[in-house]
Amino acid sequence: MTSHTLLQASANAAQEMPFEDFIRKIPKAELHMHLEGSIEPEMMLALAARNNIALRWRDAQALRNAYTFVNLEDFLALYFECCKVLVTEQDFHDITKGYLQRCATDNVIHAEMFIGPQTFLQQGVDIDTLMRGVLSAMRDAQRESGVHSGLIISVHRHRSEADALAVLDCIEPWRDQVAGIGMGGPEVGNPPSRFARFFAECRRRGYMTTVHAGEEGPAEYVRQSIELLRPDRIDHGVSAIHDPDLMRLLRERNIPLTLCPLSNVRLNVVASMADHPLRRMLDEGLFVTVNSDNPPYFGGYVNENLIAAQQGLQLDVEAIVQLAKNSLQALFIRDSTKSRYLQKLSQFVALRNVAPS
Ligand code: ADE
Ligand code: ZN
Repeated sequence: MTSHTLLQASANAAQEMPFEDFIRKIPKAELHMHLEGSIEPEMMLALAARNNIALRWRDAQALRNAYTFVNLEDFLALYFECCKVLVTEQDFHDITKGYLQRCATDNVIHAEMFIGPQTFLQQGVDIDTLMRGVLSAMRDAQRESGVHSGLIISVHRHRSEADALAVLDCIEPWRDQVAGIGMGGPEVGNPPSRFARFFAECRRRGYMTTVHAGEEGPAEYVRQSIELLRPDRIDHGVSAIHDPDLMRLLRERNIPLTLCPLSNVRLNVVASMADHPLRRMLDEGLFVTVNSDNPPYFGGYVNENLIAAQQGLQLDVEAIVQLAKNSLQALFIRDSTKSRYLQKLSQFVALRNVAPS
């Protein structure tokens, strides 16, 4: 076939598809999702029953009705309460498998997932139980549905730096199977400066790092994170929109921000989706990505986040393609794999026309 007829053939093959279908089908990565925040209410009740743990909700609907939050702290109280249902290796395996099955359906080709071991160590779960359960499900998902994944070990900013450093020792046997280290928890009153030694130690041990900053905290916490912790990514970072110099710094250093629009709406970080800074950040050339944070709690996985953002902010097809591209480029993986993923994305885009909505 000549190149002309090849082009003709591919143009003929271009499928017209509704914008929402395009968003659901485009190959993408997810970079900000907490495994302990991914448990659907039905699974939560099943885990509680099999481990003989009492929950305060009679059924899945009653639990779902509890998913209304005034702020991050309010959400974290429920999130930590629900962590008590995770006890055995099988539990950690099942929640990881559940999320990665959803990735396969949603065309998430690579997911980087957080888990925070401090919660479970405190509950008496040993680190082997947690790591074996999660890692075996990751291997199974890759073999069975072709979904690739990485694990990010997250520490809590409301605990001490010494406690965070102890986590690094705990996970030492799995150093080669850990994609990176992160930090979350209640932000206000827990500034990044408390963890400078910890992040330096993560780097010394060769880990990629990321940190929640500028979710409820001020732009100053994002700046402090960049200067004192030197992370490879920032989780959230929405408050940077209030500081033009900081926006310039983020662009110059090309630091990815893992935005979570539905989370921000549900935790009243923004007043509504129309007020979310995602669109302005994208227009200013920042390296932004869209993610789900804790999907059942906030009403959606990555595709629902993309669709809600597209509708609330009138994002066009180019913006969605840019977001998918950014998600693949921001992964903590080798460049050769990124190139392969980006090629897959280009092939998808070349073969689709989006129907005007
Ligand atoms: N842990 C789980 N979700 C979080 C969030 N949105 N912010 C901080 N810590 C978290
Ligand atoms: Zn988060």
